[in-house]
Amino acid sequence: MPTGSEGTFAAMDHQAGAKPSPLPGWTESVIGNPAPTAPVRGFAVSDNLLALRTWGGNHAGRAALVLADPPYNARNRKDYLDDVDHRAWLEAIGERIELCVPLLRPDGILAVHIDDSEHAYLQVLLDGILGRERRLNTVVVKMSELAGVKIRYSDRMLPRLKEYVLLYGRGPASRLRPVVRRKDGAALARYLRYYAQVLENPDAPVEEWSVIPLVEAMARRGLPPGRDAQREFRLAHPERLVYRTNNRWFDTLPESDRPSTRFARLRSPWDVEYVWWEGKQMLFLADHLDEPLGDLWTDISTINVQKEGAVPLRSSKKPEALVRRLLELCSQPGDLVVDPWAGSGTTAAVAHKTGRGWLSCERDPTIAARALDRLASVVAGTDPTGETAATGWAGGGGFRVWHPCVHHEETAPREG
Ligand SMILES: C[S@@+](CC[C@H](N)C(=O)[O-])C[C@H]1O[C@@H](n2cnc3c(N)ncnc32)[C@H](O)[C@@H]1O
Repeated sequence: MPTGSEGTFAAMDHQAGAKPSPLPGWTESVIGNPAPTAPVRGFAVSDNLLALRTWGGNHAGRAALVLADPPYNARNRKDYLDDVDHRAWLEAIGERIELCVPLLRPDGILAVHIDDSEHAYLQVLLDGILGRERRLNTVVVKMSELAGVKIRYSDRMLPRLKEYVLLYGRGPASRLRPVVRRKDGAALARYLRYYAQVLENPDAPVEEWSVIPLVEAMARRGLPPGRDAQREFRLAHPERLVYRTNNRWFDTLPESDRPSTRFARLRSPWDVEYVWWEGKQMLFLADHLDEPLGDLWTDISTINVQKEGAVPLRSSKKPEALVRRLLELCSQPGDLVVDPWAGSGTTAAVAHKTGRGWLSCERDPTIAARALDRLASVVAGTDPTGETAATGWAGGGGFRVWHPCVHHEETAPREG
C-alpha cells in the first residue's frame, strides 16, 4: 500500500517490489489485503489482448458483467490514442470483445459505452458476435452539459450531449435486475397533486374506512396549512394518501356483484385485488412514488466527475454514479466484473466500494499509475469522492497488480 512516505504509484517504479506471479508470464504485487479466494480483484498494466487471453485461462465463465469502455475513435480525446483507421478500430474492438465473451457466465452481461462516432458500427459488430437476439437494451445517457465547448459549434450542428451503453446478454438466461427509483421533482410534484384525500383508519376493516380531505386531516392534527406542509404530510404518510380513479372492470360489473358498502376489496378474474370506492378504484400514493428505470438516463450529474478519485482523464472518464447504476443493473455484490479498458479505474473503484470482485486492465502506464493510486486510496478508505458516501464505503480489502514479463511486452499490441 503506498503511503505518503513511500510516494504514489505515479512516482514509484511499481515493478520494483513485484514478484513472479502464479500467472505464468506476469509479475505480481499486492495492495492492501486481497481476499485469498473470491472475489478476485486485480489490475493488469498491459494491452488488454494479453490480459484477456490470460484471464480466459483462469476466469472463464465467471464474470457476471464485462463493462467495456473502449476508446470511442472520436478523434477528440487527448489523454490516449483515439484516432485510428475506422476498420482497424472495429477489428481491434471485435478481437477483444471475442475474448471477453467466454469470461462471462452463461447468464452474464456485456455492457459497452460508446458515442455517435462508432455507435452504429459497433452495434452491428456486437450483433454479429453475440447475436441480435441477445441485445437487451441500448441505453442513452446524458453525458454533457449545454455549456462551454459544446455550444461553441452550435451554429453548425447540434451540441452532442449523449452517449450510449449497449447491453447484451451472453445467453437466454441473461437478465437485467429491475431498478426502481423515486420519481424526480417535476414528475413527483405532478403525482402528489392528485392525492388530496386521507384514509383516516387504514387498520380498520375496509368496509369501515373513513376518508377525509387532506386539509381537514392536517387541521385535525394541528398542522399548519400551506403547500410545503401538505407536501411534507403526503410524503410522510404515502400509505394513507388516496386518489379515486376509473376502473373499466368495475364499470362492467352487474348490479348484483357491486358492493353495497362505500369501500370494499374486490378480486378480479385475472387475480388482481382492487379497492372499490363508491364505483371507482382507490389508488394509494405509496404505490406510485417510485418508477422503473427506463432506457433514457438524464439524471446522472457529469459535473465534477474529474475530481472523483482525484484522477483526471480528459473527456472519457465516467461518473461513479453511472458505473454504480450499471453494476447494480447487471450484477450483485460478490459477483465478478471485468473492465478491459480501465482508464482512471472508475469501474474497479465502484466495484470495490460495492463489494464486487473486479479485473481491470489499462495499457498506458501513466494512466494506469493514476488509476492504481485511486484504487489504493479506495482500499485505504481515504477516497471521500464519488459513491463513497452513498455506499457507506470505509475502506478495506485489497487487490493484485500484474505486469507482463518483458517477453510479452515485446509483442507489440495493436491499437484498440
Ligand atoms: C474510454 S477510456 C476508459 C475510461 C474509464 N471508464 C474511466 O472512467 O476512467 C479508455 C481507456 O482504455 C485504454 N486503452 C486503449 N486501448 C487499450 C488496450 N488495447 N488495452 C488496454 N487499455 C487500453 C486507454 O488508454 C484509455 O485509458
